[in-house]
Amino acid sequence: MTRVALAFSGGLDTTVCVPLLEEEYGYDEVIGVTVDVGQPAEEFDEAEETAEALDLEHYVVDAKEEFADLCFDSVRANATYQGYPLGTALARPVIAKAILEVAEEQDCTGIAHGCTGKGNDQLRFEAVWRDSDLEVIAPVRELGLTREWEQEYADERDLPVEGGSGGDWSIDTNLWSRSVEGDDLEDPSYVPPEDIYDWTDAPTGESEEIEIEFEQGYPVAVNGEEYEPIELIEHLNEVAGAYGVGRTDSMEDRMLGLKVRENYEHPAATTLLNAHEALEGLVLTQEEREFKQLIDQKWSKKGYEGLVDAPLVSALEGFIADTQKRVSGTVTIRFEGGQARPVARDSNYAAYSAEHASFDTETVGKITQEDATGVAKYHGFQRRLANEAIAANADEEVEVATDGSGDASEASGSSSDVSDVGTDDE
Ligand code: ARG
Repeated sequence: MTRVALAFSGGLDTTVCVPLLEEEYGYDEVIGVTVDVGQPAEEFDEAEETAEALDLEHYVVDAKEEFADLCFDSVRANATYQGYPLGTALARPVIAKAILEVAEEQDCTGIAHGCTGKGNDQLRFEAVWRDSDLEVIAPVRELGLTREWEQEYADERDLPVEGGSGGDWSIDTNLWSRSVEGDDLEDPSYVPPEDIYDWTDAPTGESEEIEIEFEQGYPVAVNGEEYEPIELIEHLNEVAGAYGVGRTDSMEDRMLGLKVRENYEHPAATTLLNAHEALEGLVLTQEEREFKQLIDQKWSKKGYEGLVDAPLVSALEGFIADTQKRVSGTVTIRFEGGQARPVARDSNYAAYSAEHASFDTETVGKITQEDATGVAKYHGFQRRLANEAIAANADEEVEVATDGSGDASEASGSSSDVSDVGTDDE
């Protein structure tokens, strides 16, 4: 009796995978696993109903907490990829791990997903699954299936698939973001209609301010009220979404190299990321902020790749954790015109002194304003010398070869050689 676990959503792709895993891959039994990372309730109903109609043994695993914790780690890393806060990307390893656990518990020897061979998710799922000994199966990719073929196959066999609710877009929703792609959105010059959005209202002239509290870089409270991560995210998606915060429309460079047009909604993520960065602006030193950008960028890339368990990420988080010891305090965010703009920040760890920076005081502690004179004299000194040398040699016209030969004198036909520049006494 051979069993295979299938990442199951109840949509067309994963539904046709059920008979295919038996017929084409020879498994005796398929079990479906749906992992809860904060999708809307309808999606679980759809999965449940379809599983029942298929007579599929179906498991639902709640991974919301683990996912929310990962989202909060991503806030500490100011994580975005090409403007997108990584909702789908961060959810995948969490989902993959949960499915693998069920597969192992249920004595499966195979594990399957319904992803195509074009996207990122196949890579993110399989990176986790290929850590195990299970046979990894990707029927849609391996059999080269198209949506049209799947629809026909489903019709022939009377499989329980609906005509696709919610337009013809492909939608992926979890706590951190809602992504909409496909159909008419595939034309980058097409302006998305308002009804692709579900979490955000079109921005109006209204505004509202809220205060977010952070402890060591983790968001802990809104307007003085403490929340667990899941509830905090859900709450901010509601509040910020009402002001149209967190819409992204981008040409995304996928891992395989394809560009795709992606639309996202992520009100809570945008709010928390903006607030967190504002607090770092108050407490971290200039050089920490500058260096952390490199760290954050690397973290984001690994997040996008679905490889948050890479040793590199753990090392990056060592740096992040050390900086975040001081990222405690509050930030006031104003929702206005589709933006979540930091308008005030406060922390006991501020690397800032109003007294020192003020226009109203004469000195900076024991340092007088006059002490800056020497610094001002030196500032830009090297470039002054360099610019003087350039000006002095201005009439010495040098033509550089444009034929790729690197031979300047040949190309220009002039007697002056590149190496002469700046060595001529004038
Ligand atoms: N392109 C995004 C990513 O790879 C999200 C894709 C979401 N899928 C969807 N069917 N809308 O992270």
